Amino acid sequence: MPEEDAPVAKTYSVGIPQESEAFFLKGANHLGWGMKNRLSSIFDPGSGRTVMLAFDHGYFQGPTSGLERVDLNIVPIAPYADTLMLTRGVLRSVIPPTFTGGLVLRATGGSSILKELSDEHIAISVDDAVRLNVSAMAVQVFIGGEYESQSVHNLTRVVDMGNRHGIATLGVTAVGRDLVRDARYMRLATRICAELGATFVKTYYTEKDFETVTSSCPVPIVIAGGKKLPEAEALTLAHRAVQQGAAGVDMGRNIFQSGSPSAMIQAVRMVVHDDARPEEAFEYYQALVADTSDG
Ligand code: R5P
Repeated sequence: MPEEDAPVAKTYSVGIPQESEAFFLKGANHLGWGMKNRLSSIFDPGSGRTVMLAFDHGYFQGPTSGLERVDLNIVPIAPYADTLMLTRGVLRSVIPPTFTGGLVLRATGGSSILKELSDEHIAISVDDAVRLNVSAMAVQVFIGGEYESQSVHNLTRVVDMGNRHGIATLGVTAVGRDLVRDARYMRLATRICAELGATFVKTYYTEKDFETVTSSCPVPIVIAGGKKLPEAEALTLAHRAVQQGAAGVDMGRNIFQSGSPSAMIQAVRMVVHDDARPEEAFEYYQALVADTSDG
């Protein structure tokens, strides 16, 4: 028998209503607890934004420059990312299970750079996504592409699979070679992803009218970095995107192909989480590089 508790006064705080805060993320207020908890591992609840480090490129283009050795090139900078975007093969074979940030798992595949890229299928079961404890599954959606309808069907099926288990879905707007990357196209593609159930959407920044893309999409948008730019330009791109309504970046080549991936991801964080101006962030990048070379 446990000893009887000594009498301790109880405080019921009668008259103080229990608070119920709105969830910080656009369009996510009516989602369930598990989904919101997973989204909080992708997006920082403080800034409401994310720095996702994307290195899933190998799923259709093999060991691209900067990703020849994920263990050597990516693992050391992973702690600077809020979230990793990757394939299950690399997750299991290379990423330490002690990584506690968000995980966005590439959930489609089936074509390579040697063939028609839009010919993709769902490439994972939800059981395995649950087993890997991922926060979201990512589906490539080719609006206007040859296999548009198939890719949209992939998205809706993954949304259904994810919703059953509280796993979010990232709709990735993939732009084929012949399509123009302007705001009109991005509004169309991002809105279709959101309407069909994506919890958040990845797209490309457009020089003109990007704020109309973020404004007409009812869920958060993150931007892909795209092809490698000089570091100052990539920081400017990230700055403009978040100032025009993006909830962060899902950046790959502009980080892992940078002269200093570690300095670059830290500079990107300043822009995304602290609203730093790109000039400030670039100075920070240069200072970090100089520190490293002083060694
Ligand atoms: C590309 O196939 C993947 O979807 C990448 O995750 C995405 O393009 C972001 O990488 P990057 O910043 O290199 O464009």
